Amino acid sequence: MVEFALKTENITKDYQVSAGVFRGKKTLKAVNGVSLSIPKGSILGLVGESGCGKTTIAKMILGLEKKTSGDLYIGEKNISSMRHKEIAKIIQPVFQDPYSSLNPRKSISKIVSLPLRAQGLSNGIKDIEQKVDEIMEIVGLPPRLKYNYPNQLSGGQRQRVAVARALIMRPEIVLCDEPTSALDVSVQAQILNMLLDLRSKLNLTYLFISHDLAVVEHIATHVAVMYLGRIVEKGKAQDLFNNPSHPYTQALLASVLTPEPELGLPRIQLGIEYPNPIDPPSGCTFHPRCTKATKKCSKVAPDPVVKSDKLVECHYPDNF
Ligand SMILES: Nc1ncnc2c1ncn2[C@@H]1O[C@H](COP(=O)(O)OP(=O)(O)OP(=O)(O)O)[C@@H](O)[C@H]1O
Ligand SMILES: [Mg+2]
Repeated sequence: MVEFALKTENITKDYQVSAGVFRGKKTLKAVNGVSLSIPKGSILGLVGESGCGKTTIAKMILGLEKKTSGDLYIGEKNISSMRHKEIAKIIQPVFQDPYSSLNPRKSISKIVSLPLRAQGLSNGIKDIEQKVDEIMEIVGLPPRLKYNYPNQLSGGQRQRVAVARALIMRPEIVLCDEPTSALDVSVQAQILNMLLDLRSKLNLTYLFISHDLAVVEHIATHVAVMYLGRIVEKGKAQDLFNNPSHPYTQALLASVLTPEPELGLPRIQLGIEYPNPIDPPSGCTFHPRCTKATKKCSKVAPDPVVKSDKLVECHYPDNF
């Protein structure tokens, strides 16, 4: 039987936002019924365009944002009522921007040891020093950088510091939210390979958030594709990349295959812009951008269909 490190069951997050002058408040469904299961030791890549709800899922898992409904599990344990501090012993985040996520006034040693001190888990200064040395070596940071400050480090080194800080408590699960998108392409590869290395060395499970399918293809064992707060397709990475079923996944994959990747992230060739989440389209919310959409798609939201390890939310899935 598969053992799951982390599970979300039908989690939702509603925000009340201003809909414009004289229009009052409206509900924005940032996350709209998301169920994800991450097998122990695997890497779930969560992909989707900007604003689809990826970070909101991470924040709810970390206890940084209160969910509107649904349940969260670490292993078999429901963590819905667990305090942020308790969750932090098991799950740690690595965020996108190593420039803004590291306090510029603290030394690297102070930054890396922060979770230990916040949890009151250290046995004195010597113990902290030793743990900092250990974890810096594990993430490939020279010990001499301990007394430096973030602005004295390269982008790649800073992101290694962020990873060291996440790992110093030896968590079981790491949530990476766009951990390499602020980095040069060559440095990106180094950080991704390091994360892969650390997974086997430290028995980690990752939720790996990215809008870049090429990065996810490099690293993930499982993939979930998100659109307007919902998971529209999920499955084992290889199957999803070889036989994408949802027209949205197909469009995302096509956008990766641009001839000049050095020109930056390609625009997704879907004609129409990403919809406003305050006023989502009727029926299948992807229908205005879908080349296969019929009348039914504009009226009826598709139910998820499941076959072996794969799930798709589409009336007309391919390869299924
Ligand atoms: N505190 C908030 N109040 C109101 N709306 C919010 C809030 N936080 C996020 N949202 C909205 O929720 C939706 C999902 O946001 P989220 O940050 O989760 O997207 P994302 O997929 O992480 O995007 P990106 O790839 O740009 O990081 C967006 O429409 C966003 O504007
Ligand atoms: Mg985000």
